Amino acid sequence: MKISLRSGRRSVAGLPGKLKVVGVVSGELTEAGQELDAAHSGLLSKALKTSRFKGEEGAFLVVAAGDVFLGLLGLGQKRGVSTDRVREAGARVAKKALELGVREVAVENFFAERLGKAEASYALAEGLYLGSYRFDRYKSEARPVRVRYWIAKGRGRAVEEARILAEATAYARDLANKPPNVLYPETLAEEAERLAKEFGFEARVLGPEEIEALGMGAFLAVARGSARPPRLIHLVYRPEAPRRRVALVGKGLCFDTGGYSLKPTEGMRYMKADMSGAAAVLGTFRALAELRPPVEVHGVIAAAENKISGSAYVVDEVVRTMSGKTVEVANTDAEGRLTLADALAYAGREAPDAIVSIATLTGSSVVALGRKVAALFATEDRLAGGLLEAAGAEGEKLWRMPLERSYRKLLKSDVADLKNVGTREGGAIQAALFLTEFVRDPYAHLDIAGPAYQREDWELGPVGASGFGVRTLARWLRSL
Ligand code: BES
Ligand code: MN
Ligand code: ZN
Repeated sequence: MKISLRSGRRSVAGLPGKLKVVGVVSGELTEAGQELDAAHSGLLSKALKTSRFKGEEGAFLVVAAGDVFLGLLGLGQKRGVSTDRVREAGARVAKKALELGVREVAVENFFAERLGKAEASYALAEGLYLGSYRFDRYKSEARPVRVRYWIAKGRGRAVEEARILAEATAYARDLANKPPNVLYPETLAEEAERLAKEFGFEARVLGPEEIEALGMGAFLAVARGSARPPRLIHLVYRPEAPRRRVALVGKGLCFDTGGYSLKPTEGMRYMKADMSGAAAVLGTFRALAELRPPVEVHGVIAAAENKISGSAYVVDEVVRTMSGKTVEVANTDAEGRLTLADALAYAGREAPDAIVSIATLTGSSVVALGRKVAALFATEDRLAGGLLEAAGAEGEKLWRMPLERSYRKLLKSDVADLKNVGTREGGAIQAALFLTEFVRDPYAHLDIAGPAYQREDWELGPVGASGFGVRTLARWLRSL
């Protein structure tokens, strides 16, 4: 799919397009809708009157008018207008355009008078891009498609920024959607190097010997069962005069079988996407390189596979982490926190002003928040606030959860400094507490196990990887 987005000066009626879409708000045509209606001798108002379409949010009515399609998109009620609604409307337009097979589409800048032209066209452009995303590179029938969208009376700068973040999100989706026989630690590292070269940032890749020399016993224990060697990926985005230094750490399990604490068949499905945190970090770097905010950013990914073999780690092992702390392995399926323990310690060497980790870490967070909302843990309110604000503006849902100190004792081990699992209850919190043992404040952790992978088509894209976190992290970094 090749998407191009332009903001046009004219209104929908005056722009090119085989599909022209206007909104219906509280059951009535918008101003742009009335204009398009007039240009087509009242076809739209007639359709609105004679059909049962009343403009419920998300409903679509398409009318053929000669050689163009006219689309009425229900935008819901006048009250409660938000950029989230505009973004979702954009994605619905994209879906409809693909359904109809049109290659050029003109869209009203929905709610521009309420949100401002720039804000509205930013959200609309994101929605159009994200809604156009398809992962069809392994479908023999798929043909390359080009679609051009015109945003009526949009703002060019806002549309360009939306393109950067949406393309970075699509890039992260691609990485997490790729099958595990294609994307594994070595190929993920190669891809990181390729991206760094294309976008102009640094990438350093370490192999098993160097990882060993760093003392990353927890990371190596997880990787040990796989025939495929691990990689430690260190990205650096270095602007001219940085105001801050931040480290982003992404969980990079290219496949998670659970190891000897084996997952049941259903639970193992889609564990190719257990590197969604890593994908989000790479996507964020891609966006950073284009947006160039004055923040130095380090990205750290411990890439491995959690598999079973004669050399795989087992429960009861005690591993020594890079930090010096020892960990008793009580469950080989709690592998993410082991790899992150070493990745976080490594990131700490850069003396960052803040560390943020992003990981598909616990089924417990999915139970708590479902598949649309990620859990946020933070040692400081200011850091939490910044991330929540960025997420809110990008329509990515984050909910803060507590780092309840009294649960720390659940991770006490009889033989080592701590163990990698405690009790089932409050599992996401215990996982986050485990991670805090390997960092200094300020630290935030995003558990994206729920939203990283969608089991069905959803508001902003098709079934599969969502690219969650890219837009939040990129926007947050710009706000520093
Ligand atoms: N990768 C999984 C978490 C996960 C679950 C991600 C569902 C996406 C969807 C993680 O490595 C894991 O297995 N966590 C265990 C931890 C448990 C053994 C304490 C879990 O949540 O069951
Ligand atoms: Mn696991
Ligand atoms: Zn995992």
